[in-house]
Amino acid sequence: MSREEAVDAEERQMLRQALRSTGYAAAGAGIGILALYTIPFLLLVAVLCLVGVGWPLAKPMTRWIRALADLERRRLRRLGHEIEAPYPRDELEPDRSLRALFDTPHLRRDLGWLFLHATWGLILGAVVLQLPINAVRDVTYPLWWLLAPEPDRDILSGVIPADSWNLAPLGVATGIAMAALWVFFAGKLLEYQNRPGVNLLGPDPDVDLSQRVAQLTATRAAALDAHAVELRRIERALHDGAQNRMVGVAVLVGAARREVDRNPERADEILARAQDSVEDALAELRAVVRSILPPVLEDRGLEGALSALASDCPVPCSVTVDVPIRCPASTEATAYFVVAESLTNVAKHSRAEHAEVEVRLSAGRLHVTVTDDGRGGADAGLGSGLAGIDRRVEAHDGDVTVTSPPGGPTEIRVELPCGS
Ligand SMILES: Nc1ncnc2c1ncn2[C@@H]1O[C@H](COP(=O)(O)OP(=O)(O)OP(=O)(O)O)[C@@H](O)[C@H]1O
Ligand SMILES: [Mg+2]
Repeated sequence: MSREEAVDAEERQMLRQALRSTGYAAAGAGIGILALYTIPFLLLVAVLCLVGVGWPLAKPMTRWIRALADLERRRLRRLGHEIEAPYPRDELEPDRSLRALFDTPHLRRDLGWLFLHATWGLILGAVVLQLPINAVRDVTYPLWWLLAPEPDRDILSGVIPADSWNLAPLGVATGIAMAALWVFFAGKLLEYQNRPGVNLLGPDPDVDLSQRVAQLTATRAAALDAHAVELRRIERALHDGAQNRMVGVAVLVGAARREVDRNPERADEILARAQDSVEDALAELRAVVRSILPPVLEDRGLEGALSALASDCPVPCSVTVDVPIRCPASTEATAYFVVAESLTNVAKHSRAEHAEVEVRLSAGRLHVTVTDDGRGGADAGLGSGLAGIDRRVEAHDGDVTVTSPPGGPTEIRVELPCGS
């Protein structure tokens, strides 16, 4: 690309950015107008509540403010600000006292945003919108001033009355200056317009932190639980499987020793049974080892391990893995067990014709999805497999969503943190 072409491309990019910022600033101004009209009603409801007759209106009013704040959150999300709504699941009770209502931190923050956005946000939105309109108006001044009605003959947003051809160069100059201001500052002004929303519409940092601590305490307990359950499972598998067989082997070898002198043929027969038992015990030990951390993961990585699972599945299954790095071993093992259990379920319960496994890494999280086109109706309450998936994933601070309406299809979606 030549130097001129590069400059051209950069200018086009700046213009596109300015247009995009103006679009979002205009949407912000629209929300600002709604916020502005809300304020008198809000004050009215507050006064009515103070005199004791406004309570039936308090709930619809808080709902409306939430709806406005949600609108702003959606706009900010499109601009790349991930803002979670901070509302607890339980609704605000309208019969609480005004003081208690205002003690709700997210309501206070929503109201702070409402006032700021109705003033500051609306003004900034109007400025960003006005700049390009005025730029076009001033640059084209020589074309229209003679036709415009007397009071509208002005430039620079009405600051300079314009009533002669001599002012044409000044009009063009102010227009260009305004266009330049617009191109260079529209993005910045949009950022300032967004700031109250970004700072106030998310969860209160203190509350957020205490919720996070509670959540981490719960997942830590779940991790310890999962650990204990896993240990118990391994202990049972060793006790009921390999250990029992080894006891059998010891008994058989003892019997063989006693028979060696008396009846060597019988002793040989008993030793053959002991050998079978040892081989069975070995096979069981291998199975237990595989269930702790599948060696196939170590050997072939997540993609190879999942392909191996899919090829063992009696239902035709396609696998897509888009994970350019290796995740921590425990995350990979969890993903593996999730897919293993889900595919076992597909084979056992779904009557599906096709299943699909998709694994991809995005924003430091591993997304695992297993879908089948079967009859649906998966329910964690009916067995231990899905509940086990829940426990394992929770222990990793991840999320599980099972969607399986009667009639299908079934989708198990798991998200695991895979950060280093
Ligand atoms: N893919 C699926 N399609 C249809 N139904 C399913 C599917 N997966 C699970 N189910 C239903 O959900 C129930 C619970 O599944 P879960 O894996 O928890 O237990 P399970 O497979 O019955 O037993 P196990 O404890 O051995 O896994 C199953 O009994 C089955 O009825
Ligand atoms: Mg199962």
